[in-house]
Amino acid sequence: MIFCFLCVMNKILVSGGCGYIGAHTIVNLIENGFEVISADNNSRSKENILEAVEKITGKIIKNYKVDLCIYDDVVAIFQENRDIAGIIHFAAFKSVGESVKKPLLYFENNLNSLINILKCAEEFSIPNFVFSSSCTVYGNPDAIPVTEQTPMKPAESAYGATKQMGEQIVQEAMNCSSNRAILLRYFNPVGAHPSALIGEIPLGKPENLVPAITQTAIGKLPLMQVWGNDYDTRDGSCVRDYIHVCDIAHAHILALNYLLQNKNQSNCDVFNLGTGNGITVLEIINEFEKTSGQKLNYKIGPRRPGDVIAIYANNDKAKNLLGWQPKFNLQQMMATAWKWELKLKEDEEMFKSQNSGLK
Ligand code: WQD
Repeated sequence: MIFCFLCVMNKILVSGGCGYIGAHTIVNLIENGFEVISADNNSRSKENILEAVEKITGKIIKNYKVDLCIYDDVVAIFQENRDIAGIIHFAAFKSVGESVKKPLLYFENNLNSLINILKCAEEFSIPNFVFSSSCTVYGNPDAIPVTEQTPMKPAESAYGATKQMGEQIVQEAMNCSSNRAILLRYFNPVGAHPSALIGEIPLGKPENLVPAITQTAIGKLPLMQVWGNDYDTRDGSCVRDYIHVCDIAHAHILALNYLLQNKNQSNCDVFNLGTGNGITVLEIINEFEKTSGQKLNYKIGPRRPGDVIAIYANNDKAKNLLGWQPKFNLQQMMATAWKWELKLKEDEEMFKSQNSGLK
């Protein structure tokens, strides 16, 4: 029997492949034998992260630097790659705080890019689709932990609304096609690859908690603010379910294989990706200080509009059906985040010293 490599189609298109979760997922895809291409216009990312992916995996990743809101440009990717077996769609703006201030930007970008990708999946018969969703679809839940059956409350931000609508768009698209999808609801992705070669690179002042912590600790920011300590939680600060980005990345491989092996129970399955542990803002700051040995300069500020008070996951479904098991604990999340921040500083200092003589 001649083994036909062509008939084992394993090329995956990763939209937003230069992003934080996208890049970590590409590493995991390659380590699991997939071929990968990326589509990312680098409006919120840097293409050179794929050089770091190459250092980790030894593979050069082609990135199509296109705006996924321009349909013809998306079509061109699929016309050039007729052997795509699946799509993982990360590309979206994702700051809760920013989306409250610029809702139309979020609806335009996050929904148009999704619709274009889905239209191509249909037109080019790409059977497997994994959608990057979010725990923000639950809004402020009445009961926690949330399961995948927990009813969605009104989204607390335009970002959350784009994920609620995005899930519905994917479901409706699957209902009138033979394609199948999985919706992955990330809780709070944090940390960095253990190599410290890839991690989160906020553009400008960080909105998210952990990069705000590490940038304050390393001196990039003079001070950080805890947005409210008067909530009805055990220490007054908001509760979240922090999950290591490498655990999130691996869940995508399990989700793809679940589809490729036709194990899906419907044409659009949904899974929570969280550890199942609710941690407050003040508790994660404390864990960071213990892990890094750095005292954090912070003060209590006002509540942030759009914030959910408390949410964490029931992750039984992903464990039982995908075989997913988060491996990184909170200490490792903080340690890898800090190691990444230290590496960024080291690289910046090396760049400055190499270029100091050029003035
Ligand atoms: C967490 C907590 C802030 C910064 C994120 C992603 C979103 C989605 C859900 C995946 C909140 C507090 C923050 C700071 C603070 N994930 N905070 N000071 O809002 O839960 O949303 O997870 O799709 O994409 O953005 O995360 O890190 O912004 O905030 O006190 O300087 O930390 O108020 O309570 P959030 P976050």
